[in-house]
Formats: sequence, C-alpha cells, structure tokens
Amino acid sequence: MDADSGVRTIERFILEREKEVPEATGELSTLLYDMCLAAKVIAAAIRRAGLVDILGSADNVNVQGEEQQKLDVFANEAIKNAMGHTGRVAVMASEEDEGPIPIPPDWPIGRYVVVFDPLDGSSNIDSNSSVGTIFSIYSRVTQDGQGTLEDLLQPGSKQVAAGYMMYGSSTMLVYTTGQGVHGFTLDPTIGEFVLSHEAIKIPAVGKYYSVNESNFARWDRGVQTAVRGFHGDLPERIVGKNSRYIGSFVADFHRNLINGGVFMYPADTKYANGKLRLLYEANPMAFLVEQAGGAATDGVTRIVDIVPESLHQRTPLVIGSRDDVEFVRTILTEDDA
Ligand code: AHG
Ligand code: MN
Ligand code: MN
Repeated sequence: MDADSGVRTIERFILEREKEVPEATGELSTLLYDMCLAAKVIAAAIRRAGLVDILGSADNVNVQGEEQQKLDVFANEAIKNAMGHTGRVAVMASEEDEGPIPIPPDWPIGRYVVVFDPLDGSSNIDSNSSVGTIFSIYSRVTQDGQGTLEDLLQPGSKQVAAGYMMYGSSTMLVYTTGQGVHGFTLDPTIGEFVLSHEAIKIPAVGKYYSVNESNFARWDRGVQTAVRGFHGDLPERIVGKNSRYIGSFVADFHRNLINGGVFMYPADTKYANGKLRLLYEANPMAFLVEQAGGAATDGVTRIVDIVPESLHQRTPLVIGSRDDVEFVRTILTEDDA
C-alpha cells in the first residue's frame, strides 16, 4: 500500500468536512478525535475482556438501579478522561453517573456539552455479542463557568454531532455533524479508523423489525397491532418482515441502518415510558437516522422535538426506515388503536 493509497482516515475526513463549514473553528473536530481515542481504548479492553479480569459484574448498582459491569465502569472512565481533558467541554452526562459531570478543576472549560452511554448492551458482554458506545454533542447555552443542567437538557434538534462505536466483529465508529452519516472501521494494523461507509442512507422500507417480543402481552393494543403488521398479518397494509433482535441497541440499530429496518422499544406495563433513555440513546440515534433519511418517534412524536426534563428520562422509541416508522405512527393514531 503506497503512502497515499486513498486510505481516508477519520482525521482526514473530519478535516475535509470542516472546510465545508465556514464558521468551523476546529474545536468540534478535535473533540471527535478525542472520542476516537476513547473508542480505541475501549475497543482494546473489550478485545482482551475474556483474557483479563474485566468481565462480569462490578458488584455495584448504577443510578438506573442496574448492576454495573466492569466494562461499563471502564468505558465510562475512558470517555470522561478523554472528554474532560480537552479544554473544549463545559459539562458531561453519562448513563452511569447520577448528575452532571463537571470538568476537572484547573482544566480549561470549553463550549461543548457531551452526553453518552459508555457501554450499550452490557447484558451481552459476557457472551461476546456486539456492544457499543453512544454519544451526543451540543453547544453550551449558558455563558461561562462549569456547564449546568440547562446545557444538558436541550432537545435533540439542537445536537451539533452524534455517533456511536460498535465493538463487533470489527470496531466501527459512525457519526454525523449534520452533513450526512459516515462510517469508519478500525484498522488494527495501523490503529486508525478508516472510511468504510461514506454517506450512509437507510432504505425507506426495512427488511427487518427488531423488538423484544417477550413483552408482547405488556404492550397496548396499538403496538400489538403494529407488530402483527410486521409479522405479515396485515398484508393489505404492510409486507411482513424478518425478525432480528440482538438486545444491544447499537447492534440492532446499525444492522437496520445498513439493511433497512425498524427497531421498537415501546412503553409497556413494566416500563411506562419505554426502557431506552432519551438523552444518550434515543436522541443521538434519532439525529443519525434522520441524517440517513430515516425517522425516529416515540410512536407518534418526533424524538428530537421532545424537550428533556431530566437526565435519565426514558422514552418509547420507534426508529429506522422512514415508511416503517410512519406505519407505526398511523396505527397508533387510528381511532381504534
Ligand atoms: P445498556 O446496556 O446501556 O443499559 O442498554 C441496554 C438496552 C439496549 O442496548 C437494548 O436495546 C435494550 O437494553 C434491551 O433491553 P431488553 O433486554 O429489555 O430487550
Ligand atoms: Mn444503552
Ligand atoms: Mn449502557
């Protein structure tokens, strides 16, 4: 491979995109590089998870009341360290931390806000199934000093960037800054994320539907009808789909993004507002999927229009191929839903 063999690293790609934005200062680009570094650190730990004592439970329960895995904690620290020491961030929030995460003392405070799910799909770690990281970036709205909840509780429509890492058969990073969705694959031989999926577009109609069918009895009638449509029971309204459910949102989302598909985590009698969290799971993926030509709602309302009231609030979620998300909305808004 000669020196300039057309290999486009993420650093080069981000710089190329930056030139297209007149007011770009390079700060967001630098923040994205730092996220790439965190991704490499986490990927290295996951690759070796079976070999070193990093699998299993951290014998701790997080703010969600969920048992923390050691990799949850490791990934959380890796991102906080990468983001907190850049001088470009005013405040952070994480699934694994109860409140706002301040910038360490004697570090410069910047103008960006970063919220993240450091490790998504934790329940799949010990079985070596794909897991991921999800992040979302905003510009601060307060003027100076440490960022506050006001900076964190912005609607998803205010995001300036969003992305995810997927630690699967290969490590991928997929992001958007509002100029399309682009995917990079980590080349371990050179330790760089290399452009592998430029300008991803999600098909309008999906091959797959992804939902945890064991919750069927706990859904309301409208949701049950919509899922029966995906089963092929309403052929006059929608062609039936194939079912795929990994149980890691990042992995289910990524497969649907590439092949076309719809993912649902509806409200049910156990999770009155659904299970996924608005700030660091639904919003970043909603920004990405809309940039790829898809859609994301809580069943009826566009996800990025929801004004958050708390850091860890949950939302019902229907996300993926545009026509499939619209089908669900139609069913849920019909009189007899
Ligand atoms: P996390 O590991 O960050 O808590 O996220 C787990 C989420 C999401 O990844 C996945 O789609 C969903 O939990 C699966 O939930 P069920 O096991 O209830 O289907
Ligand atoms: Mn998650
Ligand atoms: Mn998580």
